[in-house]
Amino acid sequence: MPAEPQLARWLQRVEARLESELPRGDQSPERLHQAMRHAVLGGGKRLRPMLVYAAGCATGADETLLDAPAAAVELVHAYSLVHDDLPAMDDDDLRRGRPTVHVAFDEATAILAGDALQALAFAALAREDRAGAGLRVAWLLALADAAGARGMCGGQALDMDGTGATLPLPELERLHALKTGALIRAAVRLGALAGDADAATLARLDEFAAALGLAFQIRDDILDIEASSEQLGKTAGKDQAQAKSTYPALLGRDGAAAALAAQVERMDAALAGLPGDLAPLRALATMAVERSH
Ligand code: IPE
Ligand code: IPE
Ligand code: MG
Ligand code: MG
Ligand code: MG
Repeated sequence: MPAEPQLARWLQRVEARLESELPRGDQSPERLHQAMRHAVLGGGKRLRPMLVYAAGCATGADETLLDAPAAAVELVHAYSLVHDDLPAMDDDDLRRGRPTVHVAFDEATAILAGDALQALAFAALAREDRAGAGLRVAWLLALADAAGARGMCGGQALDMDGTGATLPLPELERLHALKTGALIRAAVRLGALAGDADAATLARLDEFAAALGLAFQIRDDILDIEASSEQLGKTAGKDQAQAKSTYPALLGRDGAAAALAAQVERMDAALAGLPGDLAPLRALATMAVERSH
């Protein structure tokens, strides 16, 4: 079956779940709630939720079990973007084609909205009573590890430390693997855990996701140089302006493209021979690598 109808259905499912998880904007504290809604709703490619569904599909998970982890990983991602855009970090005023949260609201509200989105993600998993207690704990641990100091936050710290420096390639790879790869790996793991995948399948899917995470950030680095702000919905050219450590900065345009191609081969090898419906995972991998925004 072509993957597209499934992806469209999953997109609707996660949008509905996100809407129902978020607090209402007309309830106190309204400003905080509205900032959380601004951060999450009305934009975003939803790659990470789609990966949860696709990994669940590949491992035969019950689709209704996947809504909570799909929403949870997007809530953590949305929080990471709110904080990434803060003046103390990348100092960006445009995100998903709209003003960033600290511009549309204020800095204190943006910090609190990010904090509250992260807490909401874990609550959404813990509260999902269609999943057994063992699965819920496994989900919580996977997402916590990916969000924390050994995952996204650790990568963001390396990103800040690496600003203005020329990191050797292994360090740059680690930075990207943590700041972006960790949540992408978590998305795949959350779906595969719902499908009760065995250790060998989890390991193969994790290898796929690690390659996808690195590829996704290399593509992000390339687009920062090649695309316009209108196309991206975020400020283009930021990485060079802020002297960020990126693949094109270290390896040049062709070197970055070659590094991306190497990750595509790694993804193909990881999936080769795995049983199950892999078409959605393959479609998402292609979209992530060929995307223009
Ligand atoms: C942007 O992520 C930040 C990175 C990790 C590169 P996305 O490109 O997935 O952003 P949205 O969710 O579609 O806005
Ligand atoms: C962001 O990396 C990674 C996060 C953990 C949010 P970037 O700083 O390159 O993401 P963009 O380009 O602002 O979306
Ligand atoms: Mg950043
Ligand atoms: Mg940024
Ligand atoms: Mg970027």
